[in-house]
Amino acid sequence: MTRRVLAILAIAGLLTGSPALAADGAKTFQFQCKTCHAAKSSPMGPSLAGVAGRKIASLGDFKYSAGLTAKAGATWTDANLDAYLTAPAKFAPGTKMPSGVAAPADRAAVVAYLRGLK
Ligand code: HEC
Repeated sequence: MTRRVLAILAIAGLLTGSPALAADGAKTFQFQCKTCHAAKSSPMGPSLAGVAGRKIASLGDFKYSAGLTAKAGATWTDANLDAYLTAPAKFAPGTKMPSGVAAPADRAAVVAYLRGLK
């Protein structure tokens, strides 16, 4: 029950861009993403600044896998971010990113955080 309420809150927050939700996402990002995704691209991962709304695999300063490059041309919408973070290798077979965010509520929070990441 609590989990369902949390998931509903997370989705509501995702739609409204809730600052509290993005703050939760910032924590998850800190623990689960920042080792590979810094403010600037590195060999570990591309920069995620401005990733929401950006074309997939479109940064010139990162060498993407053939798997993610196959998706280039599409846009990082909330739905695509959610799908990639649900199961990276399912969304883009051959991607170099090993894992995403298992829990739907945490994932929604991370996506909300990414939307504000400039
Ligand atoms: C172990 C390192 C690692 C971790 C941890 C990691 N990523 Fe990634 N991420 C990558 C790599 C490498 C790529 C490029 C993938 C490719 O080229 O196939 C990537 C790509 C991405 C992209 C696509 C960027 C673009 O320019 O198209 C997004 C979005 C993303 N990661 C989000 C996240 C989020 C959110 C987290 C935390 C929940 C996370 N990643 C955790 C390594 C990582």
